Amino acid sequence: MNAPKTPKTFHVKSFGCQMNVYDGERMAELLGAQGMVAAGAEDAELVVLNTCHIRERATEKVYSEIGRLKHRDAAPAPMIAVAGCVAQAEGAEIARRAKIDVVVGPQAYHNLPELVSQAAAGSLALDTDMPAIAKFGSLPARRKVGASAFLTVQEGCDKFCTYCVVPYTRGAEVSRPFQAIVDEAKALVDAGACEITLLGQNVNAWDDEAGHGLHGLIRTLDRIDGLKRIRYTTSHPNDMSQGLIDAHGDVESLMPYLHLPVQAGNDRILKAMNRSHSRDSYLRLLDRVRAVRPDIALSGDFIVGFPGETDAEFEDTLSLIDEVRYAAAFSFKYSPRPGTPAADMDGAVPAAVMDERLQRLQAAVLRHQAAFNQATVGKTCQILIERSGRQPGQMLGKSPWLQSVHLVTDARIGDLIEVRIEAGLPNSLAGIETVGLAA
Ligand code: SAH
Ligand code: SF4
Ligand code: F3S
Repeated sequence: MNAPKTPKTFHVKSFGCQMNVYDGERMAELLGAQGMVAAGAEDAELVVLNTCHIRERATEKVYSEIGRLKHRDAAPAPMIAVAGCVAQAEGAEIARRAKIDVVVGPQAYHNLPELVSQAAAGSLALDTDMPAIAKFGSLPARRKVGASAFLTVQEGCDKFCTYCVVPYTRGAEVSRPFQAIVDEAKALVDAGACEITLLGQNVNAWDDEAGHGLHGLIRTLDRIDGLKRIRYTTSHPNDMSQGLIDAHGDVESLMPYLHLPVQAGNDRILKAMNRSHSRDSYLRLLDRVRAVRPDIALSGDFIVGFPGETDAEFEDTLSLIDEVRYAAAFSFKYSPRPGTPAADMDGAVPAAVMDERLQRLQAAVLRHQAAFNQATVGKTCQILIERSGRQPGQMLGKSPWLQSVHLVTDARIGDLIEVRIEAGLPNSLAGIETVGLAA
């Protein structure tokens, strides 16, 4: 067998959640700092598959990606590194089945350059250690970023919802130090970011010894010159402190958007999921958030077909959706994950029933999303320009409520401009810049 030679070009492909996108960017920066050059997936000499383990489909994708890379047309097979949550959960198994070169877990990717050298010397390089947030101190400085950037502040999860692999793939809840986050936020702004989304599997569990809490961190970041917008995701209902709710009332750069997954609307199912909140406690929490920020856009995650979910229990999820009137939502068919308690539960819901429930749920969400979008028509709001659109002169930006807005403007990426919303479509809005328009 030919030992793979040291790669000079690389490509990082990320799947899964926003934290994986962030990790992918950091791995690219790390490889770039070694003198390697970014290239396409068709011809890069090293391809990093930054994988997701959350549902069965996500895992299957890894094997098909590996197969495709091994038989790509444009160039010989690359050195393949499997990173991310699949690497953590079953990296050794993949290495046995698919002959890859590097396996690196989400808490160990600061060692990627060393692992690549090891693989270049001809042996499988595997690192799935989980030191608590050691990696951040060993990563290079942030380089150029877009108008909207991600910043991981918290990782891991102690909640152990019975269906979920994240506590196993990402480890226990750990918060990055306050100053490291503030420094990285400043570096991101210097590198071109106007908006920062703070990331964590349970981002609102972030804290430090001084007891700043996420709201204290947000209030500090709010004072960074040039940082126009702050967002955070994903939150757990039980970690939504009054301090954080209050911040939504008076921190101007904190956007009126809250992604607060509930998963289901029935208390028996919530209990079986080990969510440790009830339908009612969730709804009361939203009342408190809406009291300080009436226009807040709410989004959620839902799982249909959890083991044993009856038709009536599913109806409770639909009625919750109607009660909350979500501006957006992500919904999934339950997928049994090896090693999780729910995988051993009885009462598997037939695939056809899951399909039907998912369709009904998504139709309900779409109805509320369209109504939410329609309600912004005629309003004037600030739009952060994020990229150019397909048509000449067209730019795309985001409303405070995270809606995509397209408009014709001379404004440039990173500009925050006043826009009147003219039309609401199910997935986006059309606007007109109000500068020069009669009010
Ligand atoms: N920490 C976040 C996100 C976790 S993963 C949170 O708690 O909200 C994102 C979403 O994937 C979850 O909210 C859940 O809706 C979905 N999910 C997780 N495990 C799943 C599984 N086994 N089957 C189907 N959906 C799942
Ligand atoms: Fe998974 Fe639950 Fe933790 Fe979210 S809170 S990451 S769904 S275990
Ligand atoms: Fe997937 Fe891991 Fe994120 S399992 S959703 S990539 S934390």
